[in-house]
Amino acid sequence: MKTLLSLFLALLAFECTTQKKNQEVNNGTKIYYAEQYRPQFHFSPESGWMNDPNGMVYYEGEYHLFYQHYPDSTIWGPMHWGHAVSTDLIHWEHLPMALTPDENGYIFSGSAVVDWENTSGLGEDGEPPLIAVFTYHDPVGEKEGNIDYQTQGIAYSNDKGRTWTKYGEPVLKNPGIRDFRDPKVMWFNESKKWIMSLAVKDHIEFYSSANLIDWHKESEFGKNLGAHGGVWECPDLFEMKIQGTNESKWVLLVSINPGGPNGGSATQYFVGDFDGSKFTTEQTETKWLDNGRDNYAGVTWSNIPEADGRRLFLGWMSNWNYAELVPTEKWRSATTIPRELILEKVNEQFVIVSIPVTELKKIRNEKVEMPAQVIAGSVGLETENIELMNSEMKLNFSLKHNGQTSAAETFGIVLKNNLGEYFKIGYSTPENIFYTDRTKGGINSFSENFAGLHTANYEAGETMNIHLFIDEASVEVFVDGGKLVFTDIVFPTESYDKVELFSTKGSIELIEAEAWNLNSTW
Ligand code: FRU
Repeated sequence: MKTLLSLFLALLAFECTTQKKNQEVNNGTKIYYAEQYRPQFHFSPESGWMNDPNGMVYYEGEYHLFYQHYPDSTIWGPMHWGHAVSTDLIHWEHLPMALTPDENGYIFSGSAVVDWENTSGLGEDGEPPLIAVFTYHDPVGEKEGNIDYQTQGIAYSNDKGRTWTKYGEPVLKNPGIRDFRDPKVMWFNESKKWIMSLAVKDHIEFYSSANLIDWHKESEFGKNLGAHGGVWECPDLFEMKIQGTNESKWVLLVSINPGGPNGGSATQYFVGDFDGSKFTTEQTETKWLDNGRDNYAGVTWSNIPEADGRRLFLGWMSNWNYAELVPTEKWRSATTIPRELILEKVNEQFVIVSIPVTELKKIRNEKVEMPAQVIAGSVGLETENIELMNSEMKLNFSLKHNGQTSAAETFGIVLKNNLGEYFKIGYSTPENIFYTDRTKGGINSFSENFAGLHTANYEAGETMNIHLFIDEASVEVFVDGGKLVFTDIVFPTESYDKVELFSTKGSIELIEAEAWNLNSTW
């Protein structure tokens, strides 16, 4: 009997390895991660539902990405933490589920840190443990009509994040408020304490702890500041150098749903100061990290080594308005490309600039250059050598014409297919408005909230650089080195394969145009 069982297991193992190989290539055709709309250089789960990125932490050469995951369905359900690792932020290896629901509830969003000094006492053999801090969402309590069903829990790992042990009882109880979640934890060196930022309905609360287990409330922020069109979620607090200076400021990211600038979910930010207890800001206007509809619940990596020094960000590339309805069958959702956040001071105003991480250059093929030219009306770009929906493109426009700024009234880029479907990126000079338009982008009948024109006020200079990352079902637009960003998903019936540049009421000069086909990372 035993022999039969081992034979069966050996056969099964053989079958699995062969299947995996077959998955990758079948007669020279890629079949792994090859479904329609499957992102080729973004992270997406193999199957099932995904929302927020969670617990992003760097440890011993690996970037960890956990994420809100429901493996049994392509719609939201009992939340787990899915897990993947990467050594370059671009190629991801799927790992077994990190955290699963238990008697305390579903495992909602949160963060992870390296407890270098073993302040928690949960480390082993002199090695620092990884500690995950997350929200328990108790669905039973919620059903019973209680309001205290969200609490904060922790789990630890002593094997580089491969397996996790829950601490047990929640470490931070609910004070009697329905929305009490998404802990982001960081080490505050001056007071030698951990600081937790927590989203509490319409504001952020800060808690401190010496050991990640006993938490003490420090302060509240934001009841009367920023956008309040929806509930506040997924905060992230971190210090940033102001670019080109030795000064630094503190930045607080706060996601909000709904109430985004173009509808549904979006992420706002505040620039101010943090003294270990209180966050304060002089900022009066609302600032958005991204003006597209599909960059939500994004936070930054913990424990990036000082020698690297970057503030690395990843968002969920969808929107609660329609995330459960998008036309993918095996999985739902992906992350944005990883971005580096930079704090700039422009005209006495703080701006967070987002740039694609430099590691993305690794997947570029040879550069394709397109001729500089004056655009009057509609002009097709020569893109035969570019597989548009797996590409990166940089276009530089001069807004000066005959010595005058802003010759054309509007100008921009259209990505299109033969079916008349298109995604448009444009700028209106009299209005100072930058926009993306997916009203005729492709399939959009799945939700009346999906099709739309997305706009942001933006004052152009004498030139405008538009940097695009185009994957199977998304377009990420970085304007003028990331001062303005639009992230939008889109579902063309057939891939876009043409690029048209346009100008209305006057001309615009294309001074430089380059593109790269990008290799699949899957
Ligand atoms: C944000 C969010 C979080 C919550 C999680 C649940 O998208 O609503 O506030 O923890 O998703 O999946």
